[in-house]
Amino acid sequence: MLKGKNVLLCVSGGIAAYKMADVASMLVKQEADVHVCMTKNAEKFITAETFSVLTKNKVYVDVFDENPDDYVNVPHISLGTGADVILVAPASADIIGKIANGIADDMVSTVVLPARCPVLIAPSMNVYMYENPIVQDNLRKLESYGYRIIDPASGHLACGYDGKGKLPSPETLVDEIIFEIASEKDLKGKRVLINAGPTCEAIDPVRYITNHSSGKMGFALAKAASMRGAEVELVTGPVSLDTPIGVNRVDIESAQQMYEEMVKRSSDADIIIMAAAVADYTPVNTADQKIKKHDGDMSIELKRTNDILKTIGCDKKKDQKIIGFSMETENLIENSRKKLDSKNADMICANSLRTPGAGYQVDTNIITLITKEEEINLPLMSKLEAAHSIFNHILEL
Ligand code: CTP
Repeated sequence: MLKGKNVLLCVSGGIAAYKMADVASMLVKQEADVHVCMTKNAEKFITAETFSVLTKNKVYVDVFDENPDDYVNVPHISLGTGADVILVAPASADIIGKIANGIADDMVSTVVLPARCPVLIAPSMNVYMYENPIVQDNLRKLESYGYRIIDPASGHLACGYDGKGKLPSPETLVDEIIFEIASEKDLKGKRVLINAGPTCEAIDPVRYITNHSSGKMGFALAKAASMRGAEVELVTGPVSLDTPIGVNRVDIESAQQMYEEMVKRSSDADIIIMAAAVADYTPVNTADQKIKKHDGDMSIELKRTNDILKTIGCDKKKDQKIIGFSMETENLIENSRKKLDSKNADMICANSLRTPGAGYQVDTNIITLITKEEEINLPLMSKLEAAHSIFNHILEL
């Protein structure tokens, strides 16, 4: 996703600087052209050679360093102006203070000033330094100028304290870069409402009825929409997945809660996608206490839940696009087309549990997009690629 993108990593002096070797390596594997500049203090924690070996590019530490292959462009200007994205990480209190106040007295604070691209700043320091109102003021100031601050993680800090101030993992930092530049922002200004995961219908305080949905497809859709600049709300049943960057997540358990949260948000949404595996039936009664076993069999009486897609589809607003999913084990196209009509959807993403590489739990999917006019067979692809493909088609609807 980063092929051909020019990523500039600015490393300042903090113990977490060692994590930036992984970040550089992961970006190179994604085929980005990675450049690194560092402060002199950063060199106390990691060497410039580590980065130059990983990136195959010269690493700059001194503002007066020159590029031996290019004496026309001075690196302290051309590094910043040539970047598609800049990540300052770890950003010490010192470098944050300098950038916030336009001080340019080392390589990192200098290259950021002429930049025209998105600049991400990942603070990392002792918890009390981080909480200091001067540092917080500087961060707010940077945000007001359009810099994006990546929230530090909480945990045990190298200084011995526990609290907020850890540099997020290399995976998270790479995700932040991907989020910033990997996609065209063609959903900017659009509000996208998505549901995901299974629902859990309680029988008693111990047991419930659920299904195999992992939530991966819905979360991939939320990630893709957020990467493309949409304002995304994700209503999800119980899943063990991290919330994609920039997504507003609402956790629910039952089909009734999913119904309420979706319906109350639906009128404001431009695009609504129902990827959740909502229970069609729920117990008529939920016992307050654990149901004790008795001799002989037992049965649970079930009643129908509300059909969320049908409710929202039948109340469709002007220009709203409503997309459903359909999971079948037989007659995929015929059954899915019936859902398209009966639920008044604009498109159904149909997948069969019988096709290898499709369905629950796996990271790939094979989807047929069904609209009134056509059927489009998408090949086997990752759920994130499938999500992007679905949005490409929604934009054509
Ligand atoms: N759906 C919904 N509310 C329900 C059940 C399903 O909104 N109570 C939505 C799903 O999120 C999906 C679509 O309807 O987008 C189709 O779901 P699916 O389970 O494939 O089909 P059902 O409509 O439940 O019909 P059946 O179980 O008979 O196949």
